[in-house]
Amino acid sequence: MTRAARAARPPDRTVWIDGRLCRGGEATLSLFDRGARDGEGLFETLRVDDGRPLLWERHMERLVLSAAVLGFPVPASPQALRAALDQVLAAQGLRDAVVRITVTRGIPGGRPTRTGAWLDAEPLAGRLWRGTRAGAATVVVSRRPFAPGSLGAHKTTSRLPYHLAREEARVAGADEALLVSEAGEVLEGAVSNVFAVIGGEVITPPLSTGILPGITREIVLRRCAALGLPARERTLSLAALRSGTEMVLTNSVQEVVPVAALDGHPMPGREVAARLGAAYRQAVAEALAADR
Ligand SMILES: Cc1ncc(COP(=O)(O)O)c(C=O)c1O
Repeated sequence: MTRAARAARPPDRTVWIDGRLCRGGEATLSLFDRGARDGEGLFETLRVDDGRPLLWERHMERLVLSAAVLGFPVPASPQALRAALDQVLAAQGLRDAVVRITVTRGIPGGRPTRTGAWLDAEPLAGRLWRGTRAGAATVVVSRRPFAPGSLGAHKTTSRLPYHLAREEARVAGADEALLVSEAGEVLEGAVSNVFAVIGGEVITPPLSTGILPGITREIVLRRCAALGLPARERTLSLAALRSGTEMVLTNSVQEVVPVAALDGHPMPGREVAARLGAAYRQAVAEALAADR
């Protein structure tokens, strides 16, 4: 087999798709599915620690709400997806994982009225950024001005602008790319939300900019009050971000990650990030305890 043929082989792992388990190459989606055809899909990516999905209910809530707002057919129920998650983890023998749940707008024609859906899992270790493992990430500013548009608040599968930015990060050897508007307003990372510590205040761009309402972001913001940290959602220029003492990224898989350098400009502070990271872990532990 040629190298190209080998590279094109789908990963041989167990996937749940529309109610059944199958392996890699057998996991196919109809060409007529709107998700395959036109990128009409929604997804959630979440972390699984020791066999237990973190903040499961929050992820389900975001998925179901977006599906309703965007007029998707009824997605598979959270119970069915949870059973699917357990089956896929068991089939792969995974305890610490990243799970992705994707729902599509299905096949046009009225019936069936269910979305297409699939769920797959990968080992967590392979998905952590180098910076997450090392304790601080490196970030580049994407050269392509970004506008979230009216769908930026939904986690849609139409990911090209985000993936192109991630590619910029990859080429630069960085963990993440920062998305900035034409006017120089900091919005979010390609797969993360952004916080800055400026003058002792924790600042994050507001949801009114159209960015993704990150689950990690929301928890971190809420926990600031309990930590006695003044926090504000307000517009953030690139210059203001650079003038701050700390920069922090949040993402469900990477969690709360301090930034070591932004476009090579060092961001030495770690203190607030460490407190936010611990508070986030505490919130996750509380949610897990309540889910028993
Ligand atoms: C564009 C974008 N912003 C923010 C986030 C962070 O969201 P969450 O904390 O829910 O993982 C993500 C996650 O993938 C993302 O894709």
